[in-house]
Amino acid sequence: MMKKTITAALAAAAIFTACSAPTQTGNTVTSPDGSLKVTVDAVDGTLCYNVVKDNDTIISNSRLGFELMGGNVLGTHTEVLEVTRSSVDEQWETVWGEQRLIRDRHNGAVFHTAWLDVEVRVFDDGLGFRYIFPESLGNIEIRDELTEFRFARADHKAWWLPEDVPYYESYANHTEFKDVTLAHTPFTIEGADGRFYSIHEAALLDFAKINLKPTDERTLKAELVRWADGTAVYVGETRTTPWRTLLVTDRTGGLIESRVMLNLNEPCKIEDTSWIKPGKYIGIWWILHKYLYTWYYDENNPEGHGATTERTKRYIDFAADNNIQGVLVEGWNLGWNGDWTKNLFSFTQAYPDYDFDGIMKYAASKGVQMIIHNETAANTENYFAQIDSAYAMYQRYGMHYVKTGNVNELLDGKEAHDGQYGVNKLHEIVEKAAEYQICIDEHEPCIPTGVCRTWPNLMTGEAIRGQEHDAWERDGGNKPEHQTVVPFIRGLAGPMDYTFGTFDFSNPVSPFSRVRTTIAKQLAQYVVIYSPLQMANDDPSAYEGVKAFDFIRDVPTDWEQTKVIDAVIGDYIVTARQQRGATDWFLGAITDENARELSVPLTFLGKGKWLAQIYADAPDASWEDNPTAVQYSEKELTSADTLELKLATSGGCAIRFIKK
Ligand code: NOJ
Ligand code: CA
Repeated sequence: MMKKTITAALAAAAIFTACSAPTQTGNTVTSPDGSLKVTVDAVDGTLCYNVVKDNDTIISNSRLGFELMGGNVLGTHTEVLEVTRSSVDEQWETVWGEQRLIRDRHNGAVFHTAWLDVEVRVFDDGLGFRYIFPESLGNIEIRDELTEFRFARADHKAWWLPEDVPYYESYANHTEFKDVTLAHTPFTIEGADGRFYSIHEAALLDFAKINLKPTDERTLKAELVRWADGTAVYVGETRTTPWRTLLVTDRTGGLIESRVMLNLNEPCKIEDTSWIKPGKYIGIWWILHKYLYTWYYDENNPEGHGATTERTKRYIDFAADNNIQGVLVEGWNLGWNGDWTKNLFSFTQAYPDYDFDGIMKYAASKGVQMIIHNETAANTENYFAQIDSAYAMYQRYGMHYVKTGNVNELLDGKEAHDGQYGVNKLHEIVEKAAEYQICIDEHEPCIPTGVCRTWPNLMTGEAIRGQEHDAWERDGGNKPEHQTVVPFIRGLAGPMDYTFGTFDFSNPVSPFSRVRTTIAKQLAQYVVIYSPLQMANDDPSAYEGVKAFDFIRDVPTDWEQTKVIDAVIGDYIVTARQQRGATDWFLGAITDENARELSVPLTFLGKGKWLAQIYADAPDASWEDNPTAVQYSEKELTSADTLELKLATSGGCAIRFIKK
């Protein structure tokens, strides 16, 4: 690679040069349907872009570029020298997903300047742009990204996660831009113009994640997560940045139905994907978070240990009998005693009461996959020292799933999970896992950006305030509104390992906290909150003989298509999905703390008659006093019908439609 120093042409300039309006100089890229237009231009030498939707300017005069360590600026004292255009209209098939066939239809252009290229792709429902560093620039060190999202109006309201809560495990705030501190993306906006917007990124690889910081009441500026040494990104071999994305839709549900992020990621790099299978799992997990049993083994109190051979076999039996494909076991391996967040875990050696070999063979004989837990405690050095021997050992037994975890705020005691170091380390695990035909469920990860299109063995992950918080959180557990927000913030970034399925609401060790929903809402979440791997979190004993469990047994985790029927962020959401490669439809409706009546037109159903198996809140159900009251009924319906649903406080309704 050529290495050059940056010449005086880039010499340090005022970093905060304001952009005045770029004119339509032939530097515009228009979406295939003509409704969305992005213009990139240098105005008085400063690189800017603007976005127009249906003739309204929605993003005006926003800056593009970078400040380098040492003070040079890319994107100033510049001009657009050349524009190369492209158009794509093609369809691709997902390995798994919310939708089997995805259409990638966009118009694109690369805007070339002397020291920085900007590539733009405009879809009907959103856009992406990324930077390309010309080889002639050589290796560079970035201090700051100058990208802005300067909205034309100052009265939009946003849903956003605060940057200062570890691992993205917080509620979303709902504020005006001026009250945003430092926000994660997806950053979702309910526009004062009636539109819905969401800012995120696609294909975050070998770069740092961006956060958003307001610079005035309508402008958000990208803030890269930095290395401990203060540098944001070392640019070497990788010459492209991730895509900065903006979704623009007229319906709330349009955000969830958008495939812009996946389309901006590279096609699948795994040739044989036959071993990558979506499914459901149970696990020795919820009983640990409820502190009924321990992760560690204590020889003075062996009965207290969760991951015993006997219990694991009981879970395997239950899975095999109930259309559950996997069993997760945590606390099976050495390293949990004492302060485990400081320990060096083993990923091959089991506690004496956990017969690793016997359990693997037993699971295989029953056709059940073990989901092997690898808590790294964010010590990737220790993990990489063992990863080959551990994954090879799992592969020998034909096991294809590992749940990783990275509890500790800094990776290897020094770097952020979502800085360039963290992005690269966590991604290396995914590529390594692919070599051993292992699918990853990653906890305490970097927020996903659609890389699962390229590496579909990256199946799901956390980066969410999931249901574990209901087991022990001092604030009482996730508030009922939370799950109606989740699909519109974290959900836009990719699959969520939220881990619902609670039927037993008791919490003897931490009575101050509990799952604050009804059972019907637990069921509906399998449809509303997407993941190709879905947990049924309760102990099998909680499901035995309960009719509502039939829904968990029947619900798939891989979809032909997805339609969000109706939603108000933070109030309720109704989602319908059709089972992949089959005709059945599944519908989930959930509400916040308010009981609610919803009319649901069934126009999504195809022709003919359908048997609806309905799991609804009973009339006297409520999350606080009567969460387990589910009413099961069956109805014959057609697409001409409208269902009237009654949801209890923090309630829901789950329906399976079977073609007659
Ligand atoms: C946090 C993870 O989110 C959780 O699922 C896991 O049980 C614990 N860490 C222990 O590794
Ligand atoms: Ca966690």
